[in-house]
Amino acid sequence: MIAVAIQSTRADELTRRVEQLTTAVTPKVVKWRRHFHTHPELSNQEKQTAQFIVDRLREMGIDNIKTGVARHGVVALIHGGKPGPTVALRADMDALPIQEQTGLEFASKNNGVMHACGHDAHMAMLLGAAEVLMAMRDEIPGNVKLMFQPAEEGSPVGVSGGAKLMIEEGVLENPKVSAIFGQHVGPTLPCGVIAYRAGGTMAAVDCFKITVTGVQSHGAAPWKGIDPIVTAAHIVTALQTITSRKIDARQPVVVSVGIIKGGTAWNIIPEKVMLEGTVRTHDKQVRRKVAEELKRIVTQTAAAHGASAKVDCRSYGMVLYNDPQLTRRMMPTLQRAVGKGKLVESPPRMGGEDFAWYAAKVPGLYVFLGVEAEAGGPLHDLHTPKMMLNEAALPVGVRTLSLLTLDYLRGETGK
Ligand code: NI
Repeated sequence: MIAVAIQSTRADELTRRVEQLTTAVTPKVVKWRRHFHTHPELSNQEKQTAQFIVDRLREMGIDNIKTGVARHGVVALIHGGKPGPTVALRADMDALPIQEQTGLEFASKNNGVMHACGHDAHMAMLLGAAEVLMAMRDEIPGNVKLMFQPAEEGSPVGVSGGAKLMIEEGVLENPKVSAIFGQHVGPTLPCGVIAYRAGGTMAAVDCFKITVTGVQSHGAAPWKGIDPIVTAAHIVTALQTITSRKIDARQPVVVSVGIIKGGTAWNIIPEKVMLEGTVRTHDKQVRRKVAEELKRIVTQTAAAHGASAKVDCRSYGMVLYNDPQLTRRMMPTLQRAVGKGKLVESPPRMGGEDFAWYAAKVPGLYVFLGVEAEAGGPLHDLHTPKMMLNEAALPVGVRTLSLLTLDYLRGETGK
């Protein structure tokens, strides 16, 4: 009982210390976030962003810094004052090819490029946590690896990048990472709320490309050819029976066609139609089954119309799986970071996130931080030109990363 009492007093003391330091660093976090927002860079082009991060880390007195990881990634290490394992904190760095329409005074100065996925906030909050943890360095039993990762939004086809390349370049080694934490802002979640989920949290992302081939003919004489447009229409409709008729209704699945291309003139039935789309799943077996059904439906629907079809599938990423044990263990920490009534369970999400690669290698926990506008404010979601976030949530994110780190390392070492 006494040991428990001492431990909880220590936890209260650490929480207070983290709170004070977070309050002190918050004006800087806001300033950094606005700087990133004004100067966004696309995936695999985050050169200035990386330099800004390095400059800030150096100002904090962090000298163990690796640059050029996975092109423009920055990985820094804070050595704690006591021995212990290494925990990694990850923020993504890239912006999106979107023309900003927020009208903010610190709006993007880079034409056609915008931080519309909150990665500006992710980097600023990680820098904030770095400053908090540096100030508490002597009390940290272990190391903190700060991972600023480029190209989360995806590299062009055939070009490597993002989390996968970071891992290939050894980011989880030397020192070996024993757990990893990350967070993503959510403009549809109330400000300052953290949403967590144990197990499958974000979807596996697959992309498919279908080419339907028929026989070209005059638009006035369809019987002389084989119409790939009518065939493609049947395919699009039939694909929806995968989710409604082939997969267990209790499993989250999405099949969406995003592109249909075919034809050159209104009075010609073309030879080919091309379709592209995405499949989102949360389970390996479901993922395999969807791929099988998709191939079967496409080729056989085409055959039924006398046409032929080819399917190419490409994987963009696996399920982001939050380690259930780690999630359970860190729940009291999340609770302390956000305060009463602000920790909620997240439903499975159908978006993808390349944090999944890390979480597949080491126990990981990825949470969502609410950044909804003030009550009555307009709601603009991620990846849209008016996306805005409530900066009042930034200190909550700093506190969360800092407390997750301290509690995890103390739990591992008993210090
Ligand atoms: Ni994002």
